[in-house]
Amino acid sequence: MAKAMWLLLSLLFSFIIFSAAKEFQSPHLSRLYEIHDRERSPAPVQETAVHGLLMRLLPSHASSFQFRIISKEKCNGKLCFIIRNHPSANQDASPEIIIEGVTGVEISAGLHWYLKYFCSAHISWEKTGGVQLDTVPKPGSLPPVPHDGIFVQRPIQWSYYQNAVTSSYSFSWWDWKRWEKEIDWMALQGINLPLAFTGQEAIWQKVFQRFNFSTSDLDDFFGGPAFLAWSRMNNLHGWGGPLPQTWLNNQLVLQKKILARMHDFGMTPVLPAFSGNVPAAIKSRFPNARVTQLGNWFSVNSNTRWCCTYLLDPTDPLFVDIGKSFIEQQIKEYGRSSHIYNCDTFDENTPPSDNPHYISSLGAAIYEGMQSGDSTAVWLMQGWLFSYDPFWQPPQMKALLHSVPIGRMVVLDLYAEVKPIWATSNHFYGVPYIWKVPIIPSFFVLSFGLKSLAPLNSRI
Ligand SMILES: *[C@@H]1O[C@H](CO)[C@@H](O)[C@H](O)[C@H]1NC(C)=O
Repeated sequence: MAKAMWLLLSLLFSFIIFSAAKEFQSPHLSRLYEIHDRERSPAPVQETAVHGLLMRLLPSHASSFQFRIISKEKCNGKLCFIIRNHPSANQDASPEIIIEGVTGVEISAGLHWYLKYFCSAHISWEKTGGVQLDTVPKPGSLPPVPHDGIFVQRPIQWSYYQNAVTSSYSFSWWDWKRWEKEIDWMALQGINLPLAFTGQEAIWQKVFQRFNFSTSDLDDFFGGPAFLAWSRMNNLHGWGGPLPQTWLNNQLVLQKKILARMHDFGMTPVLPAFSGNVPAAIKSRFPNARVTQLGNWFSVNSNTRWCCTYLLDPTDPLFVDIGKSFIEQQIKEYGRSSHIYNCDTFDENTPPSDNPHYISSLGAAIYEGMQSGDSTAVWLMQGWLFSYDPFWQPPQMKALLHSVPIGRMVVLDLYAEVKPIWATSNHFYGVPYIWKVPIIPSFFVLSFGLKSLAPLNSRI
């Protein structure tokens, strides 16, 4: 019953957003920031991306703004944006406002800031008011900012967006036009760490084919578009499937566009990694492989056909081989990676053993797979399992969180405004984490009443 309730509630989790990483210094993360600075798209590409956004958002003002990428040094070594009056603002056809930022995301967030605080505009999702720009004065009459300009520094490195289930409930129905709009929205909100999960089944198909799995093996593995999250996270296999080849191919084409645009803005898209989730056919393809069948997460009419999925044992050499191949195949296909990978092994699934050694070796195998494919890999993990399943007591949590060196994993405190795990786990036992909050009105109304939104202000 509890599971069914959570399934239902989870269905409403179509959007989860948030932000705020506790500022954390580790040599590995500092090195990763440097790599991101170095590998970010060239300045003209990011400036062009923001200009493209302006053309879509407010084409009448295409010449009113000038955008410029600046170095981190101009922002005291952090990420920031600066809004100033353009020096030649009073001349004909000159831009009126100049917005500078360390990345395209910072500039876009600066544009949003200006439109909101100087022009009373509102930019949001359709369901929360949409885009309202009627109050923006005509070109030539834009309100000036104070003489010294506006300087806004990002207090934390990352603003994260999405939940693993958003992919199925919302994004699986989206075309490029809709995605483009969402990526624009992300940039305007200052989001720089979005999940990029689209098209991964096409990658899995290539990887599993290399391990001699057949198309029909995979038909029983991938879920239908609305249930992808559950087949990806080893909750249900094959439910709503199979997926036609054209769909797989088209999603991969879409993913390439999504990634390219995210990189153009200077974002850090997060790709998926291997969690040990394998097709049932592993038993016939690799009769000696060590696999565990998981429990019944959810079944339909008590039919166990879709539940009770298979988890590869971390001690099996196939674990790291498949993990490595999956990362390599993505890098080959996309040409680049931001080095941050999401992986959730026990999302609402209870582990087969509570032995901390088992849990620790599983975490280590997941990370070894990632790192064998990308030596600078950082593992981004949802903290949802710790909220959901009382299985996770301090010894088990510590075993998973400390299964990789500190700084190689970042945890999302997924439900932090209601049930903060950081508070009961001594800040995730020293593992860096991102404070995160679901923003879904229907979720709040249904589960807690709107009152639970009230204390949010004081906690942000
Ligand atoms: C796939 O099958 C071929 C032919 O039987 C075999 O040579 C190869 O080793 C298999 N690949 C894997 C990853 O087991």
